Amino acid sequence: MHPTANQIRRQFIDFFVKKYGHKEIPSASLIPENDPTVLFTTAGMHPLVPYLIGESHPAGKRLANAQKCVRTDDIDEVGDTTHLTFFEMLGNWSLGDYFKEEAIKSSFELLTLPWERGGFGLDKTKIAISCFKGDSDAPCDKESAEIWKSLGIPDERIAFLPKKNNWWGPAGQTGPCGPDTEMFYWTPPNDAPKNFDSDDGKWVEIWNDVFMQYNKKPDGTFEPLKQKNVDTGLGLERLVAILHGKPSHYETELFAPAMEKIKELSRVGREIESGYIRSSRIIAD
Ligand code: ALA
Repeated sequence: MHPTANQIRRQFIDFFVKKYGHKEIPSASLIPENDPTVLFTTAGMHPLVPYLIGESHPAGKRLANAQKCVRTDDIDEVGDTTHLTFFEMLGNWSLGDYFKEEAIKSSFELLTLPWERGGFGLDKTKIAISCFKGDSDAPCDKESAEIWKSLGIPDERIAFLPKKNNWWGPAGQTGPCGPDTEMFYWTPPNDAPKNFDSDDGKWVEIWNDVFMQYNKKPDGTFEPLKQKNVDTGLGLERLVAILHGKPSHYETELFAPAMEKIKELSRVGREIESGYIRSSRIIAD
């Protein structure tokens, strides 16, 4: 039996709370309260912006939660097997406390520990990594790559990519941001290829550890933040699809009942049922 989506969400939060002393915080409103630069909460970091730039958080320096997000910039991708406009992001934060080494090691530990020992039991031979390549704003993130290598990820599974891929934030024009390192999982049931190809969609990005150490200013330049933070985001729906062995999040328990109902109520759904047409497109009457 697969763990349910609720158990998977709980496993993530408990790992950081019980093992690494994080405090669980609630999912904030989808209408941002602490970040005037965005219309919706697009990631778990928005409610935390004041604390990423130095204010002290009442729950401390280590936080974890499941944040409901609306991400309109992915709207053109919606309809594929991995993108959603509304989703839940599992996250852990260090507000000026631990940095790259602890963040990467705990991500790897949670992904690969067996379920009964508090992890997600993913196969480490199917993991690949990307790190920031460096540019005139910030150096190449060799440090993260070395940490991944110390955990057994081989060179050919580590790609160095530019800002477009491996830099997160700010979501608006200004604010906290930084280089990130992303974890990808080979989703087909066969063995993963030796080399990581970040353009191959069968490698699905599952988790992003952002090292928020810069503030982007209105003139487009980057200044170091007062503190170095960690901001991570793991897509619950993607993880559920992987742990349930489903090729798409729409086929998991999170969406399948709604998809079935739409099919039942829709003309195309009825036609599929009756064998009149074969199509995966469901169009409501
Ligand atoms: N803020 C980062 C993201 O949304 C973790 O991917």
